[in-house]
Amino acid sequence: MSLRILVTGGAGFIGSAFVRYLLSQKSITVLNLDKLTYASDLRTLESVQDNPCYAFRKIDICDTAAVRREFEDFQPDAVVHLAAETHVDRSIDGPADFVHTNVVGTCSLLQVANDYWSNLTGDRQRNFRFHHVSTDEVFGSLGETGAFDETSPYQPNSPYAASKAAADHFVLSWHRTYGLPVIISNCSNNYGPYQFPEKLIPLMIVRAVDGKDLPIYGTGENVRDWLYVDDHVDALLTILTRGRVGETYNIGGNAEARNIDIVRSLCRHLDTAAPSTKPTGGYCDLITFVDDRPGHDFRYAMDTGKIQRELGWQPRHTLETGLELTVAWYLDHEDWWRPFLQNTYDGERLGRRRGQ
Ligand code: NAD
Ligand code: DAU
Repeated sequence: MSLRILVTGGAGFIGSAFVRYLLSQKSITVLNLDKLTYASDLRTLESVQDNPCYAFRKIDICDTAAVRREFEDFQPDAVVHLAAETHVDRSIDGPADFVHTNVVGTCSLLQVANDYWSNLTGDRQRNFRFHHVSTDEVFGSLGETGAFDETSPYQPNSPYAASKAAADHFVLSWHRTYGLPVIISNCSNNYGPYQFPEKLIPLMIVRAVDGKDLPIYGTGENVRDWLYVDDHVDALLTILTRGRVGETYNIGGNAEARNIDIVRSLCRHLDTAAPSTKPTGGYCDLITFVDDRPGHDFRYAMDTGKIQRELGWQPRHTLETGLELTVAWYLDHEDWWRPFLQNTYDGERLGRRRGQ
C-alpha cells in the first residue's frame, strides 16, 4: 500500500528524523512544510533531498491559503503535524510566537485538513488521518511517584505546555465536532542527533567541548523521562498506521533520570570520548548550579502501557546507549552545530525570572 504523508515541521529535530525514517520505508511519499525558523535546518535532510518521493516547501502553517494549495496539489492520505515552537525557556521569555504557531497555526491546519478530508470519498476518506505530535508537558508536573497515562488531567504550567494543551483540545474538538479522523501522541523528552543546542543534552555537550560551565537549573533533582529520537519516530509511524481514530497515545522511554545525573553521565562519556579538551578533574568540574527556571515542572514520567498493549511498540534504545550515541554524534558533527553557536544562539541563559 502506498501512502502520501504531509509532514509539518519536518526541518526540525524530530520532524527531520521522521522524514528520513519515512523515506527509508517502502512506498511512502512525503511533502514537508516548514517555515524554517531558527530551530530548523535543511542540512538534516541532505540525505533525502534528491529522493523522488520527497518534496519540501518553505511555508508557515499559519498561511492558510498556501497550506490549502499544498493539500490540493499533494492530495495527502495523512497529515503528521510537528511544526511548533518548542523551547520552554523561550516560551517564558516570549509566549506570543507559541500562541501563534502552536494554537492559531494548528487550528488553521485543522481547518484546511477538514475541508480537504470532507471532499474525499470512500476508502480515501475513511483512511485519512490527522496526527498531532504533542508532549507529556500538557499533564503538568508529578511528585516523587506515579506516571501520566492517557486519562491524566491536563494541567499545563509553562506557556509552551499551555499552547500544546490548547492545540490538543482543538484537535480533539475537530474530531468530536466535524468527525475529522485525528490521533494525538504525547511524548516525553527526546534526544539524539540534530537537536538544536538550546535543549539540555546538546547544550551541555557543546558547552563542555568549549570548556564552558554546565548550568543546572535549581538543585538538578528535576526528573525527565528520556527517549532516543529514532524510537519516537518509529512510534509515530506505528500510531499513524495502526492507532485508533480519536485516541491519544503516550510515548516514553521508560528512562527516568534526574537532570544532574544526565549531565554527569554526559560528562563521563565525554571524559572517554573527548580526552583532548578534558578539564583536569574531568568534565564534571564544569557543572554549576544556577537560578531555577520559573514554574519548573518537577517530574515527568510516562505510563506507556497503552501503546505497548495495543500496538506492540516499545523503545529500542536504553538511556545509556542513547547518551553514548548522542555524545559521539555531536563530537563527530561539530560542523553541524558550531554555526548555530556563531550565528543564531550562543548558548546564553534563556527563560530567567524577570529582574534576574
Ligand atoms: P524543533 O523546534 O526542533 O522543530 C520545530 C520545527 O517546526 C522547525 O523546523 C520549525 O522551523 C518548524 N516551525 C515552527 N513554526 C512553524 C510554522 N509556523 N510553520 C511551519 N513550520 C514551523 O522541534 P522538535 O523538538 O523537533 O519537536 C517537534 C514536535 O514534537 C513539536 O510539536 C513538539 O511540541 C513535539 N515534541 C517534542 C519533544 C522534544 O523533546 N523535543 C517531545 C514531545 C513532543
Ligand atoms: O517533555 C517533553 C518536552 O521536553 C518537549 O515537549 C519540549 O519541546 C522539549 O523542549 C522538552 O522540554 P524540557 O523543558 O523538559 O527540556 P529542556 O531540554 O529545556 O530541559 C530539560 C531539563 O533540564 C529541564 O528540567 C530544565 C533543565 N535544564 C535545561 C537547560 C536548557 C537545565 O538544568 N539547564 C539548562 O541549561
